[in-house]
Amino acid sequence: MDGSAAMDMASRIEDALVAAVSAADSAAGGPPRLGQAIRYAIFPAGARVRPRLCLTVALALGDDDPAASNAAAAAIEMLHCASLVHDDLPCFDDATTRRNKPSLHRAFGQREAVLAGDALIAMGFDVIARSAGRNPGRTIALLRCLADALTPPNGIIAGQAWECEPAAELSAYQRAKTGSLFVSAAMAGAIAGGGDPQAWRVLGERLGEAYQIADDIRDVVASQEEIGKPVGRDVALGRPNAVVALGMARAIAIFETLVEQALESIPPCGGRQRLQQLIRAEALRLVPEEYLERAA
Ligand code: IPE
Ligand code: IPE
Ligand code: MG
Ligand code: MG
Repeated sequence: MDGSAAMDMASRIEDALVAAVSAADSAAGGPPRLGQAIRYAIFPAGARVRPRLCLTVALALGDDDPAASNAAAAAIEMLHCASLVHDDLPCFDDATTRRNKPSLHRAFGQREAVLAGDALIAMGFDVIARSAGRNPGRTIALLRCLADALTPPNGIIAGQAWECEPAAELSAYQRAKTGSLFVSAAMAGAIAGGGDPQAWRVLGERLGEAYQIADDIRDVVASQEEIGKPVGRDVALGRPNAVVALGMARAIAIFETLVEQALESIPPCGGRQRLQQLIRAEALRLVPEEYLERAA
C-alpha cells in the first residue's frame, strides 16, 4: 500500500470512530465522565490493525458500500477497545498502562471502566445497525459476525473465561481471546464488500493466531516503552504464553509460518497484493528480526 492509500484508510477509520462516539459526548446530554472515558478508550489510536484488516478486505472486493465497511471497521475497533478496558481491570490482568497512558480504570476508576467497556460494545452494534441502507442483508450478517467475535463458545468472552478455568489449552485460549476478532474483522470486510465471508475465514484465523503469538513474544522480549503496556505480565499472572510453552525460537518460527499461511490463504481478488504487503509490513513491525538475538 502506498503512503497516501494508508493515510486515506487511517482517516476513514478515525472519522468513522469520531462519528460513532459523538453520540456519547457530554454535549449530547449523557454523564460527562462516561463520555470522556469512552473517548479515552478509543483515542489516541493504537495499531488499529483490526479495522485496517476489515477495510482492506472490503477494498480488495471493490468496496461498493463504504457506509457499511466504515461502520464495520469502527464497530470492530470499538469491541476491541472494550476488550482492552475490561482486560486491564484488576480482576483480569491488573494493568496500570495501556497505549502508553494510564489504563482506563487508573484514570477514571473501576466503575467507569466497566461501564465504558459495556457502552462500547453496545455502541459497536448500534453503529452497524445505523449503517443499514441499501443492503439490509449485509447489515444483519455484520451484526451476527460481530456477535460471534464476542460470545461463547468461540468469542473474546470465552477467551477471557478460559483464564478463569483450572486449565486451558494454549491455542484454544488464543483462538478465542484474540483470533475471534481477527476472524470477524476479515469476514466483516468481506460481508461489507459484498463477498463471501467464509472465503476469508482462514485469513482471519491465521492472522489472529500470529498476532497473539507476537503479543506473547513481545510480552517476554519488548520494553514497556515499545509496546505501551506493562511487560512480563503473562509469567507474573501465570497466563498461557507461547514463549513460555515453546521457547523463543520455536515461537518465532510458528509466528513466521502462520504469516506465510495467512498470505497464501488470501482468495484471488484485485487487492490481493496490497493485502499481502500490509501483512508483511505488520509482521515486521510486530516481530522485528532483532528479537531473536535480543532474546538470546
Ligand atoms: C492488544 O491488541 C491485545 C491483543 C490481542 C494482543 P493490539 O496490540 O492490537 O492493541 P492496540 O489496539 O494496538 O492498542
Ligand atoms: C488480549 O489479551 C485479548 C483480550 C481479550 C484483550 P492479553 O491480556 O494477552 O492482551 P494485552 O497483552 O493485555 O494487550
Ligand atoms: Mg489478558
Ligand atoms: Mg492483558
